[in-house]
Amino acid sequence: MILVEGKNLPRHIGIIMDGNGRWAQLRGEKREAGHKAGSAAVRRIVRVCRRLGLDALTLYAFSEQNWSRPSGEVEALMGLLTEFLVAERGEILENDIRLVAIGDLSRLPEGVREVLDPLRKASSDNQKMTLALALSYGGREEIAAAARDLATEAAAGKLDPATITAETLGARLPSLSVGDPDLIIRTGGEFRISNFLLYGAAYAELAFMDRLWPDFTEEDLFAAIASYQRRERRFGLVGKPLPAAPPTA
Ligand code: FPP
Repeated sequence: MILVEGKNLPRHIGIIMDGNGRWAQLRGEKREAGHKAGSAAVRRIVRVCRRLGLDALTLYAFSEQNWSRPSGEVEALMGLLTEFLVAERGEILENDIRLVAIGDLSRLPEGVREVLDPLRKASSDNQKMTLALALSYGGREEIAAAARDLATEAAAGKLDPATITAETLGARLPSLSVGDPDLIIRTGGEFRISNFLLYGAAYAELAFMDRLWPDFTEEDLFAAIASYQRRERRFGLVGKPLPAAPPTA
């Protein structure tokens, strides 16, 4: 059993939920079956994060680039998302969870917006944890949109370009409205960030895990957190001094 310390928990965890397709393939099933099992894993992990007392959990549910997948798969993912929002609405509200969505939401089908928007609104004052769903999300696209807004304001004479700093740009990014991610977990055995929370990832600790997302358990989450807790975060500063070397004879 893996134990995590109650103190020094990551405040905000981001998860790249990868491996649904391979999970299905290994069972001789369609990719959609993997996404369905992945959706069940989302439910399990949201509950654990809420129980742990995290401030925020950001899940990479659908990237801007995922629109280019076969239309049947995109439809299945949108259907699962809708099902999740309908089925979890009660539990999200009862557990004081605020649901937010980041990404280009204008591209989502109406059926998704019809359940997503009321839940965002109904949960907007909730306090215990923010669950951010990255939908039609891309880190580069998010930064470009913020840059566009800043440029528009500067061109209109409402903003002095000389006042733009890393902080002012960061403050324009919806993904950082819950603060920088402390820990980013990627399942499925690949070692990349894939356009997720690019700006916020600057000083995030990274955990790459072999487990395919549908198989991801509470124990796996605890293992990633325990690994985070063993690390020294330096944010570009110097670390703690090493213990003195033993005297040489
Ligand atoms: C990546 O696995 C996963 C996705 C593109 C979608 C993630 C979606 C879910 C977990 C389910 C729906 C979400 C919610 C919030 C209910 P992949 O298909 O790229 O896997 P592969 O690398 O094995 O092909």
